[in-house]
Amino acid sequence: MDFNIDQLLRENIKKLVPYSSARDEFKGEASVYLDANENAYGSPLPKDYNRYPDPLQWKLKERIAEIKGVPAPHIFIGNGSDEVIDILFRAFCNPGKDNVIICPPTYGMYEVSANINDIELRKAPLTPDFQLDLDTMEQLVDEHTKLVFVCSPNNPTGNSLDRADIEMLLNNFKGIVAIDEAYINFSRHRSFIQELTEYPNLVVMQTLSKAWGLAALRVGMAFSSTPIIDVMNKVKPPYNVNQASQELALQALNNINQVNGWIRETVQERERVAQALSLLPQVLKVYASDANFILVKTIDANAIYDSLVEKGIIVRNRSKVMLCEGCLRITIGRPEENERLLEGIKAYGHSS
Ligand SMILES: Cc1ncc(COP(=O)(O)O)c(C=O)c1O
Repeated sequence: MDFNIDQLLRENIKKLVPYSSARDEFKGEASVYLDANENAYGSPLPKDYNRYPDPLQWKLKERIAEIKGVPAPHIFIGNGSDEVIDILFRAFCNPGKDNVIICPPTYGMYEVSANINDIELRKAPLTPDFQLDLDTMEQLVDEHTKLVFVCSPNNPTGNSLDRADIEMLLNNFKGIVAIDEAYINFSRHRSFIQELTEYPNLVVMQTLSKAWGLAALRVGMAFSSTPIIDVMNKVKPPYNVNQASQELALQALNNINQVNGWIRETVQERERVAQALSLLPQVLKVYASDANFILVKTIDANAIYDSLVEKGIIVRNRSKVMLCEGCLRITIGRPEENERLLEGIKAYGHSS
């Protein structure tokens, strides 16, 4: 497919001269740094954080490159994937003029970020079995459609989207297809990262917030062709990922075995909890999940939600969300937490 990033970019971004930080302008090693108005004495902490971090996070990217098999210049790191979403809007979508397509029920930040950036949102709801409705998507596309967000495995439904449908999009849509793979580590399906060489308009989003257990550090990743990554780097705030997060993420990435162990255990627990839930009279349907949560249709989501809160158990009430009437979204916890959840739901309707 012919892909011309210039036709998608906003004019102001095409012309933008990005901020050039002190760390951009001098890259070598020196003994005296008097170029960034930092505190030369140090930090009032056991470890010094008085120097600005690497704006392009190269060490972290090199490690991610090894793990993912994607060269570092094809990687963007954001302050969580939420920043990646926002930057895609800011780079490609003209406020009040362009539009993007999302497929609800899906992750809420695509809509919030579109609203913040004053970008028209066009909704192509998933089919009743939570798959893409390609016909509706095609009807919604016009010359101002810059981006399509697809989330696979999808939040809050938990299922993976049909690979052939996503390929159809990639082959036919002239804008950018952003595939949000926040939950890919829990899925039996493979990532679209392997397809990056095929599709210059593909952006694969992943995060260290889920399987990697680093939600508080705010490290999100985008993998794409270099023209797209270069533009994202141009638009991002200069020091968008702080030094502590860069160092800790790098350290965490050396513990793949521990993370793989948790993933295996989470997936096992997911199947056990799904099976146990499906036997409860309070549960009408347990949707198949490729993520670390399960969507469950219940006889009364609001009442069950409240009864769980009373027991100190918090799940996500999704019953007001399109196609999720009566549904709770339940994150898979440790075995003892899952046990309390099951007992809590079992008790609903039996307590006085
Ligand atoms: C589908 C999806 N994408 C992205 C995110 C946000 O990820 P991050 O913590 O990297 O901003 C979430 C968080 O719940 C999510 O469910």
